[in-house]
Amino acid sequence: MALNVGVQPEEIAEEHAARLLALDPLLPAPPPLAPGAGTPLSVPGGAAVAWYQELAVGTAARTWEPSRKHNLEVRLAGAHQASSLGALLDQWFDLVYSSVEPGDTDCAAVVELPSRDTEAVLALVRRGFSPVSVIAVRRAGRPGPAGDSGARIRAATAADLDAALALNLEVVAYDAPFGKITPREDTAEALRNQLVYLLGLAEPVVWVAERDGRAVGLVHVQLPPTSSWAQRYTAADGVGYLACLGVTASERGSGVGSALAAHAHAVFDAAGLPVTLLHHALPNPRSTPFWYAHGYRPLWTTWLRRPVRR
Ligand SMILES: CC(C)(COP(=O)(O)OP(=O)(O)OC[C@H]1O[C@@H](n2cnc3c(N)ncnc32)[C@H](O)[C@@H]1OP(=O)(O)O)[C@@H](O)C(=O)NCCC(=O)NCCS
Repeated sequence: MALNVGVQPEEIAEEHAARLLALDPLLPAPPPLAPGAGTPLSVPGGAAVAWYQELAVGTAARTWEPSRKHNLEVRLAGAHQASSLGALLDQWFDLVYSSVEPGDTDCAAVVELPSRDTEAVLALVRRGFSPVSVIAVRRAGRPGPAGDSGARIRAATAADLDAALALNLEVVAYDAPFGKITPREDTAEALRNQLVYLLGLAEPVVWVAERDGRAVGLVHVQLPPTSSWAQRYTAADGVGYLACLGVTASERGSGVGSALAAHAHAVFDAAGLPVTLLHHALPNPRSTPFWYAHGYRPLWTTWLRRPVRR
């Protein structure tokens, strides 16, 4: 297919920004593609920056990601966006090819796109990328199911450490087959260390749901300034982040998750935050419908090719 040869780089950025603004008012204005951030790529109708990232061993953050990430941030314009994106992806692949181990499943090519900016995504499908994860957004005050009123929601304490870790590990195990979350030999220790820190904070950020005196579910929230890292994903003025929700397998489907989500949303809304964001695995048959029933909708979609080379 013919590429869109007439468009200049600054016009690409302008058209890209205008398109996103029209598609979704909760998206931020795209920042300029800073050449210092990585390797600039350019094709007719498209511009991008490619950069490499390695997540530190032993950190809880690595649980939710591939260890080694080749990232591409793209700007597209014109009438042939799938062709432009395809040409950028091919250029990028040529760039990283020799540095990637064939069959390295802990290494991924990662493209994060606004969920509603769908015109070019066939280029990703055709190159073996999958839409594995979504950053979903909920506006403050959106109603959702109240859940089981018999489940007692209370702030988690240091005495809940083992139960909270077990619940956290159940979330990891359930989400792992969908391609982004990655259990490793150090996962339990990394999550335990994180929980020790979280359960020691003066203000509670982790709550458990109790049934018959047993912790059967957990929710972890981030408020500003902890959640400020997520501000770059939205134009909303202030953001909360729902970091983890999980219910033990035997208790799912009886309203515990809804009660925990309703509690977390009451915390976010009371803090005056206009939006809450969270990540969920798109193919997860439990979390995806759950979040959309609770007032969320997709904001960003993460496409992965993992491994980068077979
Ligand atoms: C996603 C998850 C947290 C939801 O928690 P949950 O306790 O199962 O959620 P709920 O019980 O409140 O709601 C789930 C379903 O049960 C239904 N339900 C709730 N209470 C019910 C009741 N008393 N009787 C019958 N059905 C009920 C809900 O309507 C909902 O049905 P739907 O799927 O048809 O819409 C849970 O399934 C889980 O831990 N999954 C594995 C880990 C995971 O995916 N975590 C999320 C990561 S983002």
